[in-house]
Amino acid sequence: MSANDLLQVSGLEVGYGHVGVLRGVDLAVSEGEIVALVGSNGAGKSTLLRAISGLLRPSAGRIVFAGQDIAGQPPHRIIDLGLLHVAEGRRLFRRQNVHANLELGLYGARLDRAVERQRYDFVYELFPMLAERPQALAGVLSGGQQQMLAIAQALMRQPKLLMLDEPSLGLAPIVVDQVMEVLQRLRAAGTTILLVEQMVERALDIADHAYVLQNGAVIGSGTPQAIRAGDLIRRAYLGALSDREA
Ligand SMILES: Nc1ncnc2c1ncn2[C@@H]1O[C@H](COP(=O)(O)OP(=O)(O)O)[C@@H](O)[C@H]1O
Ligand SMILES: [Mg+2]
Repeated sequence: MSANDLLQVSGLEVGYGHVGVLRGVDLAVSEGEIVALVGSNGAGKSTLLRAISGLLRPSAGRIVFAGQDIAGQPPHRIIDLGLLHVAEGRRLFRRQNVHANLELGLYGARLDRAVERQRYDFVYELFPMLAERPQALAGVLSGGQQQMLAIAQALMRQPKLLMLDEPSLGLAPIVVDQVMEVLQRLRAAGTTILLVEQMVERALDIADHAYVLQNGAVIGSGTPQAIRAGDLIRRAYLGALSDREA
């Protein structure tokens, strides 16, 4: 852990009822980086993001974001601090149009009109396909467009840290490329990203640092090169499906 860390998780234990899932997770995300969190289905990746964003209360451990201990804080407080979570499965208001979904992203933010305008301009420039169809209902968009809209909705809060849970799920390879491209542009614009992915290779391609989670514990971390050179991924995915193409 270093002074550059925007997020520091230490000794985190989280479960559902009496069933423990995370068993002492340590993880740090430095400002300006894309950090990938990979691991097989059921490893606890979504549980970790839910705990960081305040949806689940940890039974032990610390979560320090931008210098404040946020463990157990309510989700809206954590959002206000600039930590946004794009959940698994692109939860949009499907019967609302694109523009309304972006507006809902601002719910409770209380911004000046001029600042709001800048936020719309920023996301519409980043996602031209949304700018072309502001009146389209979210429910009729393609899977890729819905994922872009879910990301755009979070970006309306101008997050310091954006956490994404499997943004590539169910998308065609070319659309996955577009999502990864957007994440790299966001990093260049100063947004720090914690990316949960089952498509390990795609995540390592754009990450600065990666963590491998298995059975609720971090079994290793390092640069993508170091992760690729070792056998962590093979160990983490033994007996599980992996996206490794070759
Ligand atoms: N809402 C829930 N209630 C009870 N158990 C859950 C719930 N969500 C996930 N789990 C369990 O927690 C473990 C980790 O799940 P999850 O965090 O979703 O893993 P991942 O995102 O890595 O696939 C799994 O054993 C899963 O069955
Ligand atoms: Mg998950």
